[in-house]
Amino acid sequence: MQRLRNILSILADGRFHSGTALASRLGLSRSAVWKQIRSLSEQYNIPVQAVQGRGYRLSAVLELLEADNIIAALSPEARRHLGHLQIEWSLESTNQWLMEAVDAPCGTVVAAEHQRQGRGRRGRTWVSPLGANLYFSLLGCFQGGPANLSGLSLAVAVSVVRALTAQGVKDLELKWPNDILSRSKKLCGVLLEMQGEAGGPCRVVCGIGLNVNMPQTVATDIDQPWTDLQHSLPRPISRQRLLTSLLDELLPALARYEQDGLTPFLDDWRRWDAVAGRPVQLLLPQRTVRGRAVGIDGQGNLLIERGGRQESYCSGEISLRAEPEQYHATAD
Ligand code: BTN
Repeated sequence: MQRLRNILSILADGRFHSGTALASRLGLSRSAVWKQIRSLSEQYNIPVQAVQGRGYRLSAVLELLEADNIIAALSPEARRHLGHLQIEWSLESTNQWLMEAVDAPCGTVVAAEHQRQGRGRRGRTWVSPLGANLYFSLLGCFQGGPANLSGLSLAVAVSVVRALTAQGVKDLELKWPNDILSRSKKLCGVLLEMQGEAGGPCRVVCGIGLNVNMPQTVATDIDQPWTDLQHSLPRPISRQRLLTSLLDELLPALARYEQDGLTPFLDDWRRWDAVAGRPVQLLLPQRTVRGRAVGIDGQGNLLIERGGRQESYCSGEISLRAEPEQYHATAD
């Protein structure tokens, strides 16, 4: 792993490097260099060009995440809330790493260039190719028990949209409880995992996966409509700048949630709500609820109107239904 990381950090500049130069910088034989290069393309989907007489180069410049650069660029407020920033080359899952790091201080952030078993909601896999997107988790500590945390995942999603909007990303929407959509396709997912007892202090791992430059070669493994930032922005964006701006929003937001709950996030949720007013199906473990989404309540529960009554739901997966008018149009 370390060898791969070293070779990739040399190739990251997108220039040609001869096999001999790489071998001498890395203290490897030329055949060992070749093996690493092959593994980059075959195992990690990083295309490397090999040109006789010139050497190897990446098909595109690659920006790797550097903890020092990110910490230096954080706002003073975010830096105050940061416990520790760890950048890893490859992890099973940043959420899993942080769940197991029992001594990690509150405000710890771990980001990985690659996840071998990225976790999505409802047991899904989060496709996490090397150096392509952002995969990171933050550790939030909360004094009240889990009952106070029902709106936290919505607050996290709102904070992500605020940060992306500040970076010039347009047309973002939120789909309850915490999907971030761009033009109705999933751009970013949030997965919260909790440790703690009823009524006691809680540690919450807030995992965020943001599609930045998803390679088509791995995209076939994604089982839902998806998009990435390269399709939403006129020019490429620095992953380090993105991560900095996300942490600038998220680290203070966790502290704000602890103090004031969901209230400071509600207006923005309602502004970016993709489902309010639309016919929806809410998929629950044992049944499906059909009705019209009304919005959310102050705790982040989903409100659905059906049969003239308003009901509130704290879990489930929304699927958007076609408008009844459309049914009529096809039926006629
Ligand atoms: C979803 O299914 O919408 C949630 C996806 C969450 C993915 C992120 S990537 C970083 C963190 N580590 C994981 O294993 N999952 C979350």
